[in-house]
Amino acid sequence: MKASSKKATSRKRKTFYITTPIYYVNDVPHIGHAYTTIAADVLARYKRLRGYDTFFLTGTDEHGQKVQQAASKKGLDPQTHADRMVAAFKELWKRLTISNSDFVRTTEERHKRVVQEVLRRLQETHVLYTASYEGWYCLPDERFWADDEVVEGKCPECGRPVERISESNYFFKMSAYRDRLRRHIRRHSGFIQPESRRNEVLGFLERPLEDLCISRPRARLAWGIPFPFDPDYVTYVWVDALVNYISVPGYGTDKRRFAKWWPADVHLVGKDILTTHAVYWSTLLMALGLDLPKTLFAHGWWTVDGEKMSKSRGNVVDPNAMAAEYGTDAFRYFLLREVPFGQDGDFSKPAITARYNSELANDLGNLFSRTLTMIERYAGGVVPEPHPKGVKAEDRRMVELAKSLYRTVGSEMDRFAFHRALREIWALVDFANRYVERSAPWDLAKEPRNRVRLDVVLYHLAETLRILAVYLFPFMPTTAQRMTTELGWATSLEQALKPQDFQWGRLKPGRPVQKGKPLFPRIELPQTLPERETAAPATPSKESVMELTRTEPSFISIDEFRKLDLRVGRIVTAEKITGADKLLKLSVDIGTETRQVVAGIATKYAPDLLIGKSVVLVANLKPAVIRGIESQGMILAAGDKTVEALATFIEPVEPGTRVK
Ligand code: MSP
Repeated sequence: MKASSKKATSRKRKTFYITTPIYYVNDVPHIGHAYTTIAADVLARYKRLRGYDTFFLTGTDEHGQKVQQAASKKGLDPQTHADRMVAAFKELWKRLTISNSDFVRTTEERHKRVVQEVLRRLQETHVLYTASYEGWYCLPDERFWADDEVVEGKCPECGRPVERISESNYFFKMSAYRDRLRRHIRRHSGFIQPESRRNEVLGFLERPLEDLCISRPRARLAWGIPFPFDPDYVTYVWVDALVNYISVPGYGTDKRRFAKWWPADVHLVGKDILTTHAVYWSTLLMALGLDLPKTLFAHGWWTVDGEKMSKSRGNVVDPNAMAAEYGTDAFRYFLLREVPFGQDGDFSKPAITARYNSELANDLGNLFSRTLTMIERYAGGVVPEPHPKGVKAEDRRMVELAKSLYRTVGSEMDRFAFHRALREIWALVDFANRYVERSAPWDLAKEPRNRVRLDVVLYHLAETLRILAVYLFPFMPTTAQRMTTELGWATSLEQALKPQDFQWGRLKPGRPVQKGKPLFPRIELPQTLPERETAAPATPSKESVMELTRTEPSFISIDEFRKLDLRVGRIVTAEKITGADKLLKLSVDIGTETRQVVAGIATKYAPDLLIGKSVVLVANLKPAVIRGIESQGMILAAGDKTVEALATFIEPVEPGTRVK
């Protein structure tokens, strides 16, 4: 009896509940919305893959002044406006292959009922009171600010003008929870992440905490959830919205379901809405007697080409357009590879193109297509049998590396370090590329006596690619599916992937492979930089400039020199390039963006030595593809045939500074 009940408990699957913020429907989705949702999707897929019973929630925040205003601008009632916007969000999530378990709309009955129940419970526990309040109100942010918080008549958060408003409202005794919240944050080091954000919240809580105004008079704002015990008021939109995290998993309606999912494992949010989550939400949960979520993770913001993204600047990045141009998977990959999760980053087309061409088309795509071509050509198109007689140390090293990913990728994912998890995965991609070069199957195929060895090499490549597909599945689900299908393995990764699939040796010999189109067709770059389109008669023709250079080879005019855009660049990463002894692949920070540069300095400098060094970068040099890798500029060094010394600076100097 005892034994069987023990067994029943141990068989219970581990659960994972992850949420995104629910997005305002005042406008169509942009890259910021896509970012959080993609990150949440990657984690949800990863956890499912590791065997967790996963619940992934996203949705829309539809009440409040912002939405009401956006609707009336369009001459629509708020519900019709919201319905249209929601369609845009849902379509985008489909296009970005988001695997959410549910989609909540705050205008749904199932949600509204729970918000009212929450208000009733708060009222019953005497943590609400009414008071007349006078304060500075920021209309776009829907927030009151105290006298000492307002900066010269402007909202301290968004910088827009605030209005003086006086009205009677319901308040939540948030101030009473300050010490408990501080203790909770101190005791649970993983509660608010990254650590810098945790310190910010603790800093915020050094000051006295005010009570929270949680109602809006209906006369001023009708578009909200009515207070259940006072028809003159609607619920403050933030309280309404935060409750989604518990209304959907069944708070107040389905005890068992709620117990299964709550507390949430992760609320992913942007850095701008951390306070509302860390302080408002936590204290509300305390008042309701509920556990706090295990982790609040605040990510950074994207700028675009070095500038703040805004409608007025006209530089808002449409995720639909990016998915159309680069493909959904490449867009997903770029967002998580380019910037450490938690830090701000910059989005630009050159940056996504560079990663696409070098890491996806070249490193991964080529490895995959070469392997399949070789299996077709040298093994009759079926996965060959790896006879133990043909196995060498090199193969074992690759197997070891593939196995070690379970731990290395796992620990990076647990820390939300997506970029590092991808780096770990790429260590295997790079190894496999070197392995192809070193084992040279094309040479083995020339001699029939090398058959056993050739089969071993091809099997190891195919199995490595299958394992890579499993690790890549959370990041690039469509690509991973294509890879495994073409390798003749599982048919539906979405349904069939199991934790055991991380293990070496699951690809069965004898299955036919089927090579398709390239995974990531290269993006061809324009051959020349756009030339200034000036038809001024004084502009010398190309021929006459050449003529000039021939007769006066040693001089250029100052105007010609000024055409050079020389910048201070700081080397952020440096790595060797497979099969090119003299070359290093560098990423160079030039203040507004990071450039990928291929430099012929590998014989002189070890990669590690270069990190953090300031160099001179020719920033407007025509991009060139060197060994399949795009180089977006050139760094200067002394030396004629061989590099003698890199040009650098005596004083520390900011990346991006012009060199003249
Ligand atoms: N409705 C609230 C959230 C309520 S959650 C209970 C809201 N919605 S929002 O649509 O304005 O913003 C959603 C998310 O987009 C936020 O996490 C915000 O950080 C994120 N981003 C908005 N602009 C962004 C960038 N430029 N870059 C990255 N994320 C950005 O706030």
